[in-house]
Amino acid sequence: MLYETDESSFDVFAAGILKEKLEVLQNTNTKINIGLSGGRTPLPIYNLLKDFDLKWELFNFFMVDERFVSVKSDQSNYKNIYDSFFKHIPSNNYPMVKEGYQIDTAVEAYIKALKTHIPTRNHNQPFFDLILLGMGEDGHTASLFSGTEALNENTQSVVKNYVPKLNSHRITLTFPVIKNSGEAIVLIKGEKKRKIVEELYTLEESIYPIHKLVKSDLKMSWIISKN
Ligand code: 6PG
Repeated sequence: MLYETDESSFDVFAAGILKEKLEVLQNTNTKINIGLSGGRTPLPIYNLLKDFDLKWELFNFFMVDERFVSVKSDQSNYKNIYDSFFKHIPSNNYPMVKEGYQIDTAVEAYIKALKTHIPTRNHNQPFFDLILLGMGEDGHTASLFSGTEALNENTQSVVKNYVPKLNSHRITLTFPVIKNSGEAIVLIKGEKKRKIVEELYTLEESIYPIHKLVKSDLKMSWIISKN
């Protein structure tokens, strides 16, 4: 599904679509499991979404990916989403990084958290009702960057992933668990990203990691700024 809007109304438009999707889920489920991406694009959208009157107590929010930094750091996706969204609503939320955890311990703990809170479906992978994704101008999504080890993970739901070009240690959901979700919504703001999306649907092969999702049977919706 393609949703297009002017860049000036992108945040309000995207928040409205997410609200509608969450309303459908809350009307048909007693517990809803959502994966949220970090980065800059979604933060103003989360800040609008928090003001809608939804049954937030039914929602479990998980991180799609995280920088391996303190949750007090401005680089922390969890901190930024907490400040914009989580602290304003009575939902459950699960950070990927906990103070004092080594990265391997944090990964193991998150795999366990997914197994505890999320039912499995298909190949014993956790089933997210909805995953909100961003995309970099290099076609990465989550923390699945070109040329990194995590791209090849076909079993685990969560892995650590060192990203050389950013000199950044990340924790990320993997392709198997993202592809297993009920729907992925991808936020595409800006001309460069929009042009990449056009390519994704015309090319059989692509260097862009997100292309792997496009070629799968995952239900994908795109919220795209058209100018
Ligand atoms: C991160 C994100 C990342 C993000 C894209 C787009 O940790 O940076 O999870 O995957 O979704 O990089 O980021 P922007 O929305 O800031 O362009």
